[in-house]
Amino acid sequence: MAATTIAKLAKMKAEGEKIASLTAYDASFARLFAEQGIDFMLVGDSLGNTILGASSTLPVTTENIAYHTQAVRNGAPQAFVIADMPFMSYATPTQACEEAAKLMRAGANMVKLEGGDWLLDTIRMLVERSVPVCAHLGLLPQSVNVLGGYKVQGKEASAADNTVRQAMALQEAGAQLLVLECVPTSLAQRISEKLTIPTIGIGAGPECDGQILVMHDMFGLNSDYLPKFVKNFLAEAGDLSTAVQQYVQQVKEGSFPGPEHSFKG
Ligand code: KIV
Ligand code: NA
Repeated sequence: MAATTIAKLAKMKAEGEKIASLTAYDASFARLFAEQGIDFMLVGDSLGNTILGASSTLPVTTENIAYHTQAVRNGAPQAFVIADMPFMSYATPTQACEEAAKLMRAGANMVKLEGGDWLLDTIRMLVERSVPVCAHLGLLPQSVNVLGGYKVQGKEASAADNTVRQAMALQEAGAQLLVLECVPTSLAQRISEKLTIPTIGIGAGPECDGQILVMHDMFGLNSDYLPKFVKNFLAEAGDLSTAVQQYVQQVKEGSFPGPEHSFKG
């Protein structure tokens, strides 16, 4: 299979083909995801939850992400791999460049950062220095202590307008992909229509240009708390490969996420 590139993801948006992605943390799953046609993989700092068992993503370090990025790269040499920059690893533009370099050396094609206006200089600096950037708006898990919990974001009209404005600014600064987490479907739709770069939703409704899920969630592995936007694909499919295949198929045909997995404005 040909390598996925950011140009291909942009073309998919332009042509209306939905992008199907998952988090990945190791070589074995990365190989399986690549075989089933996952368009890109994210080495998420959600590994703080899924791998480490912590209650937030805050304990995760750049070294942790780099180790798992190497594993994913080894398992899927042709895949488009995004690596999360963890909490406080991009507090200044200079620090962001130093930490991003570790992730790019580990095999990432792009790094992801959580936030809006305060990141514009950082994004410009990374992109000028040849590090592609994925932005992330809506629910920002690294800000859980400021937000006071994991809640849907951008419900009020003023918050929604502000999120649209920030999304435009992030694109303008050079971000080439945007994750939207836990926002109403109507807001995600507005942003997806306005931006030329692809939007990737998680709990952001079916109108995004693509979808991502935490792999453990789509296999039904986190049983104590299942967010509304999660679907257990393994339960229906019966085996791992078929579960991933059905996830890809349902994202591509637009049947996942449905209204039951999405938030109203
Ligand atoms: O860390 C992660 O898994 C993520 C996705 C939920 C987008 O950032
Ligand atoms: Na993350």
